[in-house]
Amino acid sequence: CSQVFRQQDFAGKRVLISAGPTQEALDPVRFISNHSSGKMGIALAEAMYLLGADVTFVAGPMPSKPQYSEIQIIPVTTAAEMETACLAAFSAADICIMAAAVADYRPVQVANEKIKKQMEAWSIDLEKTTDILAQMGALKRSDQVLVGFALETENEEANAKAKLIRKNLDYIVLNSMRDAGAGFGTDTNQVTIFRADGEELQLPLASKNDIALKLCQSLKVWQS
Ligand code: CTP
Ligand code: CA
Repeated sequence: CSQVFRQQDFAGKRVLISAGPTQEALDPVRFISNHSSGKMGIALAEAMYLLGADVTFVAGPMPSKPQYSEIQIIPVTTAAEMETACLAAFSAADICIMAAAVADYRPVQVANEKIKKQMEAWSIDLEKTTDILAQMGALKRSDQVLVGFALETENEEANAKAKLIRKNLDYIVLNSMRDAGAGFGTDTNQVTIFRADGEELQLPLASKNDIALKLCQSLKVWQS
């Protein structure tokens, strides 16, 4: 991979990216998770690498991984592990892009043995996980750039903007679920980027690789 021609846009910058789902165990054979494929995060990690950045990729369980061996991959399974990995890398990062679909809740208890089907109905007690992005927003220094993602199925723009403020972000990327070609597992995506000062940029439906490159390039333009 050392043959790859890299741009200099983000040369000398450390970029931390979270991606993929997390899995929260119920017992040794079952977990709670979501449909995230990690593809958007992989595209971002590769785009940032090709633009010259030093990339750390905190990866929830996903079927593929970034193709360049220089990208440092930290594999995690649970939200708690993702939190530990992300916070450990946070202070050294110039730019953090949290694209992971972190589980919002985890089972209060994890059974040591497989849970047997005894009762007619069964409910599970869940507790909240830590909001990693909000933690970073609270710790953020003025020289750091923090980018979040938002996945909404209603009041998309208002919800995304509320997250931008609540989590003290510089940018939030709203994933559109409306388009047939956008969302989980697809190779294409449609996003709108909202900036803390109110400016916004809507990108047309495109491949996740194209979206990632455009997103990184607009961060570069907006930051300079
Ligand atoms: N996020 C995070 N840690 C969590 C939950 C979310 O870092 N425990 C990050 C995601 O990586 C994403 C952003 O927060 O960048 C928004 O995630 P999303 O699920 O859309 O928002 P939530 O704040 O969890 O709110 P809700 O699921 O209720 O819409
Ligand atoms: Ca959530």
